[in-house]
Amino acid sequence: MAKSKPRVILSAAVSLDGKIASRTGDSKLSSKKDKMRLHKLRSKVDAILVGRNTIQRDDPQLTVRLIKGKNPTRIILDSQGTISSKSRIIKTCKKVPTIIAVSKKISKKNLLRLQKLPLEIAILGDKKINIKKLLQYLSKQKINSVLLEGGGTINWEFLNENLIDEAIITLTPFLVGGKDATTLVQGKGFSTIASSKKLRLKRVTRQGDELVLNYFKL
Ligand SMILES: NC(=O)c1ccc[n+]([C@@H]2O[C@H](COP(=O)([O-])OP(=O)(O)OC[C@H]3O[C@@H](n4cnc5c(N)ncnc54)[C@H](OP(=O)(O)O)[C@@H]3O)[C@@H](O)[C@H]2O)c1
Repeated sequence: MAKSKPRVILSAAVSLDGKIASRTGDSKLSSKKDKMRLHKLRSKVDAILVGRNTIQRDDPQLTVRLIKGKNPTRIILDSQGTISSKSRIIKTCKKVPTIIAVSKKISKKNLLRLQKLPLEIAILGDKKINIKKLLQYLSKQKINSVLLEGGGTINWEFLNENLIDEAIITLTPFLVGGKDATTLVQGKGFSTIASSKKLRLKRVTRQGDELVLNYFKL
């Protein structure tokens, strides 16, 4: 029987001061060892989900390359379907299953452009993509685990809706600074510590100068 919602695992590499990228958008925080750990984790989940800014800034492939393993389905949250045809996601969508989640706000032109590609388009929500509906949609497709790979804006949406079940955060030995540098969780934020989300620390793994922190929902 299909589950009502896939398990959502937040995954990120953060600097010691909680940034996931520098003010110029440089996000190369993790070590080779950590990338290998991440690729192993990717091979174990059904899907990876990221926001459109991450695609625009990093142009990631979101595949399993550093170890042997299957590629999960890639899900991009892009309300207006603006993803560049030159992006590595689009260039590889024939080989790697890809879902572009859009809202009803998408222009006819962008919808037609995407419809010509070998990928799936999920129209969910009027202006913004409704992430609860997205998770229900994924469950129906037997996607039972989703690795939430950011960025900060998407992370906030999932956290605010209480949809994160687990977090695997690599604490890297960098101090990045910058009030405009993206943090692990962006959005409005919670007004008090008491109303913010608290997780339970399950495991800590030292990896050279990095710590891999594994937290679970309380
Ligand atoms: N260190 C790490 O592990 C790591 C991992 C990932 C990303 N990053 C960094 O994070 C930065 C990007 O983060 P970001 O916060 O700017 O952007 P983001 O979270 O990647 O993308 C945000 C965008 O997603 C779209 N979106 C679609 N549906 C949404 C919904 N329901 N709720 C919220 N957003 C929705 C919105 O654009 P539309 O309105 O156009 O749809 C929104 O502006 C990059 O610099 C990247 O390098 C770092």
